[in-house]
Amino acid sequence: MLKKSIEDICNRQVEREAYSSNLYLAMAVWAENNGLAGVASWFYSQADEERLHMLKFIRYINERGGKAVIPALKKPVAGFKSVEDVFNEVLKHEEFITASINEIVSVTLDEKDFNTHNFLQWFVTEQIEEESSVRAILDKVRLVGKNNMYQFDRDIMGLRTSSSATDSAT
Ligand SMILES: [Fe+2]
Ligand SMILES: [Fe+2]
Repeated sequence: MLKKSIEDICNRQVEREAYSSNLYLAMAVWAENNGLAGVASWFYSQADEERLHMLKFIRYINERGGKAVIPALKKPVAGFKSVEDVFNEVLKHEEFITASINEIVSVTLDEKDFNTHNFLQWFVTEQIEEESSVRAILDKVRLVGKNNMYQFDRDIMGLRTSSSATDSAT
């Protein structure tokens, strides 16, 4: 049975992963409306992944005898100045999510909940990947994007890491 403190902080992460999914959908819409089909695809895929992260938490909470809460979501920002601007926002958001996961890890240590600690290791690794892939995209945007957004947009889907894209929700 999950302790209340763990259940609550895992439910907070359900909300944050759901918000991440919606934020990336808003970014996909922005990209699509600006003629950037490749960037839009990247964000649609990313939104799907974040939904899988949310599901992992929901199912874990329920499996351990807790009650997952499906949250109301705040409206994500929708206007961006440029592709570089949008990916700077993604990096900021992923850094926030990394800090959030690390905080849960530290609560599981305080509470001596080693099952949840073990469950979280997948997310610890995932956040390292998420941050590094966004940093790689930002490097490309700065290198190529300013002069040739067409090329950047055409190639961006090739920058997706295959492991996180194929992980299932279970
Ligand atoms: Fe996530
Ligand atoms: Fe993420």
